Amino acid sequence: MRVLVCGGAGYIGSHMVRRLIRAGHTPVVFDNMSTGHAWALKEAFMGAEEKGITPVAVEGDVLNLQALETLFDNHEFDAVMHFSARSLVSESVEKPELYYHGILVGSLNLLAVANRAKIDNFIFSSTASVYGTPECMPIEENCLTKPITPYGHATKMVEMILEDYAQAHGLKSVALRYFNAAGADPEGGLGELHEPETHLIPNVLRAILGQTPPLEIFGNDYPTPDGTCIRDYVYVNDVADAHLLALEKLAGQSERGFTAYNIGSGRGFSVLEVMAAAERVTGQWVPYKFAHRRAGDPPVLVAAAEKARKELGWSPQLPILDEIIRTAWNFMNSRAA
Ligand SMILES: NC(=O)c1ccc[n+]([C@@H]2O[C@H](COP(=O)([O-])OP(=O)(O)OC[C@H]3O[C@@H](n4cnc5c(N)ncnc54)[C@H](O)[C@@H]3O)[C@@H](O)[C@H]2O)c1
Repeated sequence: MRVLVCGGAGYIGSHMVRRLIRAGHTPVVFDNMSTGHAWALKEAFMGAEEKGITPVAVEGDVLNLQALETLFDNHEFDAVMHFSARSLVSESVEKPELYYHGILVGSLNLLAVANRAKIDNFIFSSTASVYGTPECMPIEENCLTKPITPYGHATKMVEMILEDYAQAHGLKSVALRYFNAAGADPEGGLGELHEPETHLIPNVLRAILGQTPPLEIFGNDYPTPDGTCIRDYVYVNDVADAHLLALEKLAGQSERGFTAYNIGSGRGFSVLEVMAAAERVTGQWVPYKFAHRRAGDPPVLVAAAEKARKELGWSPQLPILDEIIRTAWNFMNSRAA
């Protein structure tokens, strides 16, 4: 299939592009390179030629409707994957306008051009943030979605738009609500590199490498066993595999509809537990200090991912935290070398 990957030069998107090529699909990447990397695209495209695949990269912004129209005039697609958004939760609290605009207008633009081109398979990168501070744990998809940040609100709104598009325009779509994507492809060359980095695992590893000041742990007074936040870490290639399975499901589905799936490992680890795992993997201490809580951080987020198992046939291939951290550590060391 020819798959438009918006945001394909980013962390998860570049792993997706490599996975698509390995599976015999042709990715067309559309990315404004705001947080994406040219080196990641180059790495992700490697090996395509041997498979007879010609991947394409187009620089452009999903907020620019005209650029999207040109893209759709020049290429044919069977499906769209939408990874292209800002995703700094704290920044969304400070600058809600940036997040509502970026997430809503970007998604509406993409849906408009996809609808005009009669492309009815759409996979959206959603987030555990749609649940806010959840009332049930582990979190099932039918738990109340009550976001507590503009990032979560806007993402939830896109899910509602997708549902309405199914009714109005016959769209078939899936929202994958990722928990905390982590790790790097063991084949090498790809990994997580954000600036600023807000994700725990790369920040723990950067602190170990002395690339940053001591790690700041935001809050040690949460209602959790050790007082630090608990999160569900899911391996980045497992996230990409969930998209491949969703793609197959949508392609084989005749009826319109929208479905949301949690993509998480089903296990939660506190910040202190992640640090301990990183120390086991690296054999080095994590320098750290405690800081105040951040706005918009719920104490615990752990997925129930049964629905994705049952309906997509998805199950994490790398569920062990130490192994996920090891892949991230190898990536960081390869970039430092
Ligand atoms: N990383 C996670 O753990 C996580 C968790 C939940 C949800 N998500 C969602 O998954 C998606 C991808 O996350 P990521 O960690 O790979 O982020 P990322 O920042 O590494 O990648 C996003 C990519 O989209 C591009 N992009 C951003 N705005 C764009 C625009 N307006 N037009 C075109 N391209 C644009 C960026 O240049 C980048 O290449 C995001 O939507 C994010 O909200 C990520």
